[in-house]
Amino acid sequence: MKKFTKILAVVLAVLMLVMAAGCSSVQSVEKIKKAGKLVILTEATFAPFEYIAGGKPSGVDIDIAAEIAKDLGVELEVKDMNFKGIVDSVKKGKGDLGIAGMTVTEERLLELDFSKEYYKSSQVVIVKKGSDVTLDNLKDKVIGVQEGTTGDFYATDDIKGDPNTADVKRYNNAVIASQDLANGKVDAVIIDQLPAQNIVKSNADLEILDGVLTEESYAIAVQKNNPTLLEAVNKTLDRLFAEGKIDEFVLKHSTAQAQ
Ligand code: ARG
Repeated sequence: MKKFTKILAVVLAVLMLVMAAGCSSVQSVEKIKKAGKLVILTEATFAPFEYIAGGKPSGVDIDIAAEIAKDLGVELEVKDMNFKGIVDSVKKGKGDLGIAGMTVTEERLLELDFSKEYYKSSQVVIVKKGSDVTLDNLKDKVIGVQEGTTGDFYATDDIKGDPNTADVKRYNNAVIASQDLANGKVDAVIIDQLPAQNIVKSNADLEILDGVLTEESYAIAVQKNNPTLLEAVNKTLDRLFAEGKIDEFVLKHSTAQAQ
């Protein structure tokens, strides 16, 4: 019996190790160099930061990622996925970095490390031109957001009403949310400033309300306990800041047209 228990313990331990290896892996600079590629995770309906142009991911974040890959001497691979899955996927090592106009939040800092902040943003409100929606009556409205974003968190947690709270509709991406806004299925969309400007630019029926709901900063998500990768990312960012490249990328992609 004792022997059986021992064997069982060993089998269980091996099984747990195999399972842990299967659902998470530890990223590192050596591993990336050995693989010859840097894999980044993003969600590409967020122009100018990431969008699809000519069938390929493009944008400020893609340019930043390309510079990190260049400094590491490896190829860049971009994986386009649901935004709400990015934090968990970076945590489990399903990609090396999350670069997705991602706001640094206290909750995300429990799961991940973040690089230096590279862009300041805010949540704003897009409405149909001439609507009666204001920053103060959002609690009585139907609000569209991209699921798992800080716009979602604001709409869900911070719009308090007595007796109402906003009716929040969560979408996989901001493009569908804004189509529903144009079609009158939601009253407002809460989203980041530059992506909001980009949406309004291509839809004459929509406008952005004056004023902002939040102040936020974007940074690159790195798996915890990976100081060398975090350092490498920050080093490239420092070079890009010094060369004025981030502003250049923002300008370039704000005038480019997403498809
Ligand atoms: N800044 C917001 C957040 O971190 C929205 C980011 C959405 N990014 C994207 N690529 N769709 O939650």
